Amino acid sequence: MTVRAILKMGDPRLLRVAKKVTEFDTDELHLLLSDMLDTMVAAAGAGLAAPQIGVDLQLVIFGTGEPSARYPDAPPLPRTVLINPQVTPLSGSADDPTLVEEEDWEGCLSVPGLRGWVPRYARIRYTGMDQFGDPIDRTVQGFHARVVQHECDHLIGRLYPTRMRDFTRFGFTDVLFPGVEVADE
Ligand code: NI
Repeated sequence: MTVRAILKMGDPRLLRVAKKVTEFDTDELHLLLSDMLDTMVAAAGAGLAAPQIGVDLQLVIFGTGEPSARYPDAPPLPRTVLINPQVTPLSGSADDPTLVEEEDWEGCLSVPGLRGWVPRYARIRYTGMDQFGDPIDRTVQGFHARVVQHECDHLIGRLYPTRMRDFTRFGFTDVLFPGVEVADE
């Protein structure tokens, strides 16, 4: 078990556009994923992107399989390894092509102690590969869609504050939500 150090906002390695993974099902990749999982679980995160531990690759993991301490009200999210992802925003329905956004609180292990009110597309399709090189193709909404957009943003050097529009809803978790038990970040 190896818990790796998580880079914090201000580190230029969080601002890079990550490189594509070209080899799958290798010992090196499995070891990296195992470290990422240990790191995410130790930090009680909902997801983690490789750039957050200084690895410049298009690789994210997310999901707890059970309600997360940081997001106790969120529905369970399948534990997923997503490599070289592509995210496509979808409209609410075929009749109405408008892309629908939802706003909700987000945190990030690279922005510890803070929460912000972040708009995200309500419904998306995402594709990519798993660690064995098998394709992933899912259409999701709500919290699942939010987590995928947040994690994939790490692969293009974007942290959630750069997606915010209303900075009156950005602050320290213990001030915004006094008395609420929130896991350490
Ligand atoms: Ni994050």
